[in-house]
Amino acid sequence: MTIAKENAAMAAMEFIESGMTLGLGSGSTAEIFIDMLGERVAGGMKIRGVPTSKRTAECAVEAGVPLIDADKVEKIDVTIDGADEVDPAFNLIKGGGACLLREKIIANASDMMVVIVDDRKMVDTLGAFPLPVEVDPFGLALTADQVFRALKVTGCQDAQTVLRQMKDGSGPLITDGGNYILDSKCVKIPNPVETARALSQIPGVMEHGLFIDLADVIVIGEADHARVIELQRD
Ligand code: A5P
Repeated sequence: MTIAKENAAMAAMEFIESGMTLGLGSGSTAEIFIDMLGERVAGGMKIRGVPTSKRTAECAVEAGVPLIDADKVEKIDVTIDGADEVDPAFNLIKGGGACLLREKIIANASDMMVVIVDDRKMVDTLGAFPLPVEVDPFGLALTADQVFRALKVTGCQDAQTVLRQMKDGSGPLITDGGNYILDSKCVKIPNPVETARALSQIPGVMEHGLFIDLADVIVIGEADHARVIELQRD
C-alpha cells in the first residue's frame, strides 16, 4: 500500500505553489508527502509548514521543510493530511494517530484541505474504523458515558467505547495536548453531521474525529496512479 500512498502524495503536489503556508498533517501518508516536500524545498521551492503534531514537526525537520508555529501564522493556504475513512460526501474519520485536535484546528484555519489516502480508505458509510474522541482526563467515566449516549441517540447502535492505550502497555495514551482518546466501535455512523454536533456539545470532549465540511479535495492513491476528486460546493 506504500505505493498507493506515494501516488496520492505525489498527485497532491499539484496544489502546492512556492510562497504558500502549508498545514502539515500527521500519519504515514502525510509523512510521505512531507518527505517529497523536502525534495521540492531542496530544489528551491519556498514554503513554510505548520505541523499538526510533534511527530510531524520532527519529520519535517528531518526532511528539511521549514516550519512556522501555529501561533505565528495569519493564514494557511493549503493543508495536506491523511484520513482513516472518507465517505462520498467528503466526511472524514481522523485521529487514528491521536492528532485529531491539532489536525482539525489547522484544517479549519486553511483556505483548502487536500486529503491524501489510499483507496482502502474510501467507504460508503463511515464507522468501520473506530471513531476517536479526544477528552479531558478529568471526569473520564462521566464523559465516556456521555459519548456513548450521544452515539446511540444519533443512530450508532451498540457502540463500544474504549480508552486508547499506549502500544507498550504503559498506560493510557496521552495526546500532544495532554488529553486521552476514547475509541468507539460504531460499525456504522448513519448520520455523521448529527453525531458530530452531539459530540461537540459534551463538555469533556476536546474534539472528535468526525471532520465535516472541511475537506475540499480527496486524492485517492492506487497502485499505478491517483484520482483527484474536488468537492463541488453550491
Ligand atoms: C492522525 O491522527 C490521523 O488523523 C491520520 O491522518 C490518519 O490516521 C491517517 O493515517 P495514515 O496516513 O497513517 O493511514
